[in-house]
Amino acid sequence: MTHLITSLTNEQKQKVWKTIKDKTIAVIGYGNQGRSQALNMHDSGLNVIVGNVRDSYAELAEKDGFKVYSIAEAAKKADVLFILIPDEVQPEVFEKDINKNMKENSTVVFASGYNYFYGLVNIPEKTNVLMIAPRMIGFGIRDLFLKGQGFPALIAVGKDYTNDAEDQLLALTDAIGVFKPNGVAIWSSFREETLVDLLTEHSWAGALLYIFRAYYEVATELGASPEAVILELYASGELEEIARSMKEQGLFKQLKNHSRTSQYGQLTRGPKYADEKIKEIIRNEAMDILNGAFAKEWTLERQAGFIHFNKLYELATEHPMEKEEEKLYKILGRIK
Ligand code: NAI
Repeated sequence: MTHLITSLTNEQKQKVWKTIKDKTIAVIGYGNQGRSQALNMHDSGLNVIVGNVRDSYAELAEKDGFKVYSIAEAAKKADVLFILIPDEVQPEVFEKDINKNMKENSTVVFASGYNYFYGLVNIPEKTNVLMIAPRMIGFGIRDLFLKGQGFPALIAVGKDYTNDAEDQLLALTDAIGVFKPNGVAIWSSFREETLVDLLTEHSWAGALLYIFRAYYEVATELGASPEAVILELYASGELEEIARSMKEQGLFKQLKNHSRTSQYGQLTRGPKYADEKIKEIIRNEAMDILNGAFAKEWTLERQAGFIHFNKLYELATEHPMEKEEEKLYKILGRIK
């Protein structure tokens, strides 16, 4: 098996689909991922039901034509359970509604590596455990499927109890729409998914917010107007275009879309933001992810009622840049 799979041959399809075509698939959670994955699997010909608490998501699932059960009922009926509720509520919901109701020889599918990698969910012994972690937001998954396009996903077998878990995984990945044109499945692991997902958040994604803020402070100190700075940094949408060019042309190859002055500036000034000291910070964050320190910290934070988290949010939104952004966005008609 190669590391990347872009499509299945007809022969492979026939073999792997046999393992799921007569099964009942319960999608637990009908939010960002749940709705799109449920609709795609239904359109691919699978028998899909939804397990949800009674809320507006359950109503939407009913409106979309699905039979909606309580999570416990859906777990009893299902041969395959897609766990598409937020990561932080999964351990509790597993304990309360899923674990004791699952059939023997059934299959659990996660969309992220987090809970299984850290051993935070209690899963019955006689079940398969799979991961299909889309690298795509929920509505993108549905939108692309309807356009006949695929998307990337990291896939893994955590436990093969029935000796056909890999075939089930490939068939379910196909049913969600990954193997349509431009899509790709990457053979991965719960560990790798957790590492790359969290490390993004703990390195550049987090850093970007605070570098933008530092830039704002420096530029406005030097007389630049808040509006010019905010538009320059992100409000103009140029950033979106750069991200698109990175996706389509490549990280450094997209540089040629910028002026030569800009290219020279980026190539000479950029590297100081990735020196050995910064790499050491990234390495330490990676270690905190792999040894469970971050996960433990986050569990404690939740148990304490998000006190520190809420404080950080408050601090972040008290910054003068937030008020200036609000004024600008009102003028631009983006907020009321
Ligand atoms: P979401 O936040 O959209 O989930 C909403 C659903 O969870 C609703 O059906 C709601 O009824 C249910 N729910 C919320 N709290 C609940 C509780 N306490 N008990 C029972 N049900 C509850 O979730 P989302 O964003 O779709 O994430 C689902 C999984 O997909 C997660 O494992 C996430 O890591 C993964 N994932 C999400 C991506 C995204 O684009 N949001 C991308 C890739 C993976």
